[in-house]
Amino acid sequence: ALSFVHRFEPATDAGAPPLLLLHGTGGDENDLIQLGRMLSPGSALLSPRGKVLEGGAPRFFRRLREGVFDEEDVRFRAAELANFVTEARKVYDLAAPVAVGFSNGANIAAAMLLTRPEVLAGAVLLRAMVPLAAPPAADLKGRGVLLLSGGMDPIVPEENAERLAAQLRAAGARLDHRTLPVGHGLSQADIGLARQWLAAPQ
Ligand code: MLT
Repeated sequence: ALSFVHRFEPATDAGAPPLLLLHGTGGDENDLIQLGRMLSPGSALLSPRGKVLEGGAPRFFRRLREGVFDEEDVRFRAAELANFVTEARKVYDLAAPVAVGFSNGANIAAAMLLTRPEVLAGAVLLRAMVPLAAPPAADLKGRGVLLLSGGMDPIVPEENAERLAAQLRAAGARLDHRTLPVGHGLSQADIGLARQWLAAPQ
């Protein structure tokens, strides 16, 4: 059996890229299904539930407090999730997915990009921050990453998002980083930009 509780929705358009949906703290495998459908109609959707519980709230890795991560757990959980994606691709006969992650889900997606770059075809990172202060030298050459930050995000300082952008660029990702005049929550602008980006060839 696959090692994460998850939802899977098969593709209805074989040309649309599979999406790996990664929820924020306190979410679950159902949270981003509607968003996934909106962002890329016809895509297969693979949506796991984070295994770490923080006061009952599912997450994808442990943190010491808001914005301060247990980096050993980040590495362990990124590997565990990467292995799940590899297994799920066999079970559901999927191409490498594009991750769509929000908040904590964007952070584990960024950790996977930096530690297991072969697992994802690309990523949409919504309000991501640096998951690992000193990531290994990953090869993301040719992989597209859309990073959408909030200029008024109380959780992710602009400097931190810039640092993540630099890490991804250094690894060779084709990075598109936009900072929107919004906070930590998602806005219509996020949805429009992500939808456009996903519709363009990866
Ligand atoms: C995290 O813990 O990954 C970030 O603080 C975002 C969050 O989940 O609040």
